Amino acid sequence: MQQITIIGSGQMGNGIAHVFAQSGYDVTIIDIRQEALDQALITIGKNMERQVAKGIITEEEKNQSLQRIKTTTAFDKGVAAADLVVEAATENIDLKLKIFSDLDRYTKAECILATNTSSISITRIAASTKRGDKVIGMHFMNPVPVMKLIEVIRGYNTSDEVTKQIVDLSLKLGKVPVEVNDYPGFVANRILMPMINEAIFTLFEGVAGVHEIDTVMKLGMAHPMGPLQLADFIGLDTCLSILRVIHDGFGNPKYAPCPLLVNMVTSGNLGVKTGQGFYKYTKGVKELVVADYFTTK
Ligand code: CAA
Repeated sequence: MQQITIIGSGQMGNGIAHVFAQSGYDVTIIDIRQEALDQALITIGKNMERQVAKGIITEEEKNQSLQRIKTTTAFDKGVAAADLVVEAATENIDLKLKIFSDLDRYTKAECILATNTSSISITRIAASTKRGDKVIGMHFMNPVPVMKLIEVIRGYNTSDEVTKQIVDLSLKLGKVPVEVNDYPGFVANRILMPMINEAIFTLFEGVAGVHEIDTVMKLGMAHPMGPLQLADFIGLDTCLSILRVIHDGFGNPKYAPCPLLVNMVTSGNLGVKTGQGFYKYTKGVKELVVADYFTTK
């Protein structure tokens, strides 16, 4: 396996491209907009530069890795030579079903089709192809170059052989693969999202403020980020959509998203990417500042 194609050049897609290129694979990133691809290359370059500054890689390794990454907006050409495709497009079921049915048409018969979905059923995605044995979940964590885990999710028809290939490949990337089965939220988000949702309920009910809730979890449980900061980092729209998948999938009211989260997403306050969520984010400011909404109401 040498030729890897990544679909989607956002936060996850560029991180995934980064780690594959750094491990010696030839990478093609596909996106519908050339500007998004150009931005992804800039981000990857900056993140590799951080690693050079930390002494994790050399300047030469950085340049060689960057040379292994190509970009294109032409879907059919970008996937034709792939041994593995990792889809990291927006978390939208209809979009993913369309991408996978196209992948089934345009990739080599032996190509493995992986998705980085954080919650959508692998079995459902696989059903839009005629190669369910070769469709698998490869769930990277953000920031991809830093986080060690890859949650490897077996769909209902994923073969043992394909699972083994993806586990071995994950090890070659220097990651720790953990194999799980395909049920709503898999393992990572089934546990993480109810915690984040409960933190939001705790705020909503006035038990404590933003800073207080995050401090309890950071200092009390040794989490690197409190749950509200982490929600901002992941994106509140993503958190809401994952919670909805888990809620619908189990039909259990304990997973119902907090109305405050729904309001924040509806009003466009999505966290880091929009500049405001539970905290407000200003370029160049490292200190965490609670959003005005939670200090004035
Ligand atoms: N690329 C390369 N290196 C990066 C990076 C990136 N994108 N982002 C951070 N780093 C490096 C930094 O250079 C730094 O390196 P050293 O340790 O060698 O100094 C290190 O990571 C720590 O970064 P910072 O000093 O900037 O900041 P920090 O100490 O606050 O750590 C963090 C940042 C790693 C993000 C840390 O806060 C953390 O681990 N947060 C929790 C992340 C988490 O839980 N992720 C999972 C989210 S859930 C998910 O992704 C799945 C889903 O489906 C929703």
